[in-house]
Amino acid sequence: MCGIFGYIGRRTAAPIIVKGLKKLEYRGYDSFGIATLGSGIEISKHEGRISENGRSAIRLNGTIGIGHTRWATHGIPNDINAHPHMDCKNRIAIVHNGIIENYADLKRQLIARGHRFLSETDTEVIAHLIEEKYTNNLLTAVRDTVSDLQGSFALLVISPEEQRIVAARNASPLVIGVGDGEFFAASDMTPILEYTERAMFLEDGDIASLSQTKVEIFHGDDIVTRQIELIDWSVEDTKKGGFPHYMLKEIYEQPQAFYNSISGITKETIPRVAIKPSSVVIVACGSSFHAGLIFKYLLEETCGIPVRIEYASEFKYFPPPVNGLVIGITQSGETADTLTALKQAKAHNCSTLAITNVLGSSVSRIADSTLYMRAGPEISVAATKSFVAQLAVLMQLINIYSDNQFNKVLLQGHRAIEDILLKDLSEAIAICKKAHSLFYVGRGAFFPVSLEGALKMKEISYIHAEGYAAGELKHGPFALLSKDTPVIAICMPDDTYGVMISNIKEIKARGAPVIALGVEGDSELTDVVDLFISVPKTHKFVQVLTSLVILQLLAYHTAVALKRDIDKPRNLAKSVTVE
Ligand code: G6P
Repeated sequence: MCGIFGYIGRRTAAPIIVKGLKKLEYRGYDSFGIATLGSGIEISKHEGRISENGRSAIRLNGTIGIGHTRWATHGIPNDINAHPHMDCKNRIAIVHNGIIENYADLKRQLIARGHRFLSETDTEVIAHLIEEKYTNNLLTAVRDTVSDLQGSFALLVISPEEQRIVAARNASPLVIGVGDGEFFAASDMTPILEYTERAMFLEDGDIASLSQTKVEIFHGDDIVTRQIELIDWSVEDTKKGGFPHYMLKEIYEQPQAFYNSISGITKETIPRVAIKPSSVVIVACGSSFHAGLIFKYLLEETCGIPVRIEYASEFKYFPPPVNGLVIGITQSGETADTLTALKQAKAHNCSTLAITNVLGSSVSRIADSTLYMRAGPEISVAATKSFVAQLAVLMQLINIYSDNQFNKVLLQGHRAIEDILLKDLSEAIAICKKAHSLFYVGRGAFFPVSLEGALKMKEISYIHAEGYAAGELKHGPFALLSKDTPVIAICMPDDTYGVMISNIKEIKARGAPVIALGVEGDSELTDVVDLFISVPKTHKFVQVLTSLVILQLLAYHTAVALKRDIDKPRNLAKSVTVE
């Protein structure tokens, strides 16, 4: 996954593209590049981040240009592998998000026909193929080329012979911003919002021509129209707004995100496929998988509806026998594995529901129906408010399946999150920042909370952290316990309380310090642990939310204390559009 951005209009393209790429950096940030139509193709591309000091002073001429910020897949991050890539005659420049699966074959054939390759990327084959097909019409050449490509791509192509950008999409996101006398093409809306809220989402198989005056979209031999949609995210939502990091801002936006997402879904408006299913299969990755696992525990406990949950990346290769409703949870709506899993579920005649934060994202085109979270744009790579908004949607589904018996609880959720934001975690941060390894344990719905807490910690602090079902720690990980491996235990007053206390005592007996999250006034727990952090004594749903927010804040502040790159942790990206 990478970010691509193109501009055509009356203004100088390069500064607009630089700004756009900075907004897209969360999709990948190991190298970047821009090409414009100035005197011929003018190009500038470099290893590193465009947002690093001094990197963005790119002086290229012309009012038409394309840019790219990369998350390396084929070839290490360096200047040569950075996009844009060109053909042998420097007549074609191209940026690409996605993977060309048959690139090795194509490259062999192209080399045999005399083409010279500079980079190790899969993308470069596209430039050379277009070179071969190009006579006097870039659109036709791109159309003839994409029919040879297998895999996923969002492409932007320019040539000095033509005053336009040609864009093509297959299984990678591509949105066109419709401005006033100018057009934008990008991987998502965040870099476009500053200029226009009007957007057209290309469909798989679409090829578009963006000129200074119009956008024409072709699908096969037909010219097609794609509806202009109004995007209600504001440009302010994509700024840090005085916070030191996007992640902290987004953690603080969680009360609103939770409230908005709860309020956006009612019994009357949920899609037909989502109305009380007899069983559910969830497919998801990363944090979204953890949200699904919390849902499994809560739905099975409250409604007795069986839920099976599968990593989307496994589902494709080892599809379980599925029927009924399959729910794909994906904040970005673009995770390749989740999209593939949903397609497979459809092929098995299952009903499919997507839960996503991004209007017009690919998942909404695949699933039968979509429920949108209303978290607003999330820029930090580590998911926080999108996770809480996923929980809001999932908890609201449980509420609807339970005849609204959790209405009051859910309508208080945002207040509880708000109150917990001010919790003093300094002692816990002091312990965590010195740790070489951390374990997180919980039972029931608090087990996936511990998984998510550990994921946040490792993603942004780079401290090794593992979440475990509390009963499992003695089956192996006990060998790792020492005074240098603190254990964070989530111990709420439910049926598992007694056994959790026993587990904590066993951990303590192995010399590991224990930080416990429990409800206020729990003196028994306070007495057995090294550090006690309280959440209000409320409903389990709310305790899930509040303990989760504490773990997000703990990860955030520990990473700040270790001077980590909070919003752009090494090697990661927000949306993973490759398998
Ligand atoms: C990436 C992100 C994670 C996210 C996962 C799944 O790894 O860094 O934060 O949880 O993808 O993303 P999705 O968009 O499908 O929720």
